[in-house]
Amino acid sequence: MNQRGSMNRKFNLGLSALTIGLVLASGSVMAYEKGDFVVRGGLAMVDPNDDSSELSLNGTGLADTSVSVDDDTQLGLTLTYMFMDKVGVTLLGATPFKHTVTAKGVTADDLKTAEVKHLPPTVTVQYFPLDAQSAFQPYVGVGLNYTKFFQEELTSDFKDVLGDGKIKLDDSFGYALQLGADYKLSSNIVLNAAIWSIDIDTTATIDLDSGSQIKTDVDIDPMVYMVGVGYQF
Ligand code: NI
Repeated sequence: MNQRGSMNRKFNLGLSALTIGLVLASGSVMAYEKGDFVVRGGLAMVDPNDDSSELSLNGTGLADTSVSVDDDTQLGLTLTYMFMDKVGVTLLGATPFKHTVTAKGVTADDLKTAEVKHLPPTVTVQYFPLDAQSAFQPYVGVGLNYTKFFQEELTSDFKDVLGDGKIKLDDSFGYALQLGADYKLSSNIVLNAAIWSIDIDTTATIDLDSGSQIKTDVDIDPMVYMVGVGYQF
């Protein structure tokens, strides 16, 4: 396609998007006002942007070692209460996430070290900038996360190399930032997509039965993605 054709095509696409936007925005559904509740359920994925210190053995650093954490998807639930027009407070909850912690640089290959579960309840205050008549309701949020780790267990791979022991991950408090959007299909039903950036930092401590202790600081700092449907009441 020549340049002029391409420009026209982009212009037409732009106009179509604008038209759709206006049609959507002119729907008669009312959006969020003071006193409203919205509950949303869907799939939530925790995708770590992990970074760790080197591992230490009895307080001595082990050069070129680190750990990584894989992602996991669970059922997510959010509940929003609008305590003002355009301003709400939201709690994010989920079924427990399960992650594999892998150590690098300890053995020739990556060493699967532990399985851990966590719950990351997160509270954000959200601002909905668009008018109540808009079916499309984007929002931004800022808040706090508390992450509780539990059922931490060393893998058999790890025990084969370093022997049995116990692993513990410290709980984490940190900030949470959020972007999301609801699209109202009717006066009660919404489609939702949301992203959180959450600060989760922990220290993992392994006490080996041999008496040695392995430690590392891990910044998990995940993005959390959720898509789902919601109900306003
Ligand atoms: Ni962090």
